[in-house]
Amino acid sequence: MSTVDSPVEEKIERLLGRIRPAVRREHAYIVGAPDTVKVKLNQNESPYDLPPDLKQEIAEAAADISLNRYPNEQPHELRHALAEYNGVDPDCIIVGNGSNELTYTFGMALIDPGTPVVLPTPMFSLYEKVVRLADGALTSVPPRSDLSFDTEALIEAIEAKDPALTVLTSPNNPTGLAMPLSDIERIVRAASGFVVVDEAYVEFNPEGSALRLMRDHPNVMLLRTFSKAYGLAGLRIGYMIAHPDVAHEVMKARLPFMVDRLAEITALKLLARPELLQERVELMRTARNGLAKALRAMDGVDVVPSHANFVLFSTDGSASALQGALAERGILIRDMSGYEALDRHVRVNAGTSSENKAFLAALEDTLYDSQGG
Ligand SMILES: Cc1ncc(COP(=O)(O)O)c(C=O)c1O
Repeated sequence: MSTVDSPVEEKIERLLGRIRPAVRREHAYIVGAPDTVKVKLNQNESPYDLPPDLKQEIAEAAADISLNRYPNEQPHELRHALAEYNGVDPDCIIVGNGSNELTYTFGMALIDPGTPVVLPTPMFSLYEKVVRLADGALTSVPPRSDLSFDTEALIEAIEAKDPALTVLTSPNNPTGLAMPLSDIERIVRAASGFVVVDEAYVEFNPEGSALRLMRDHPNVMLLRTFSKAYGLAGLRIGYMIAHPDVAHEVMKARLPFMVDRLAEITALKLLARPELLQERVELMRTARNGLAKALRAMDGVDVVPSHANFVLFSTDGSASALQGALAERGILIRDMSGYEALDRHVRVNAGTSSENKAFLAALEDTLYDSQGG
């Protein structure tokens, strides 16, 4: 009997048939990161780990955690610290296991099969995935020719579909473009449903936060993360800011106990060191500007202006071949050509100055090689 015909295989086939089609159609979200990589610039992480003295402080505080006990449902102290940092009531804050966890929670809270959702493209792919998983009715709005969000087209789609949810990301991933606050406000005014503004890169954004819109517009929800400017991607902390009544309802859709005590302590210690954040944001901003300038000076390279910690650019050749050629040289960047508007585009995040130099040298080498040969 062949393996395919074996009873166990048949049972597995039947079992897989019971998994929802919306799930089976998906691909798992996997970002390849070989262990041997020297320079990792493919996930918009901070190149800076926490300084040793802060790690020591955290380790000492961690020794007092009773690991046999569940954490609080919401990390009480961190929620208060984030409320104070943002000048809002603690009831406005939900802390999550990374902001991605809260994105899933929005899906649970807002999207039934057929619920209209409006998303501009190109944008962080998780949002589309959450809509597809919930069988929502997605309207995608393509960008303008400069890759910025098309505010007029978004307003038209919102007026036509009356979506329960519209998501904006500013600065946007993967473009790095920030949306003017006045445009966000126009969209928020046009929408009777929720408008989530993902501010994962807000610390790099000269436009600042959309927080002030929440005063008059209770349909605004903000998402923030500790994974980028704060350099805490490994511990998974993100948070949402919403009207307290909205936060109260969204809480009901959440998995319990998603924020562990070590993550809470670390986030609290980081919030207590604003100068560290400022210093690092400045370093990353300078590094990003340096990268953009060097890329712009290269023949055949087109650079999208960025207000985040990464740069999106295109070359004359294939993005996947470029990603592969750089990976062979120990440098990870991200092929973005899977997005409809981003043929031949790759994204690189700002690393340390030696990482950036290594990337630029390898890129020149690769472009020269491919043009020469
Ligand atoms: C726009 C955007 N939102 C959220 C995230 C992920 O945030 P977290 O690590 O808090 O889940 C990313 C990471 O790349 C992102 O680009």
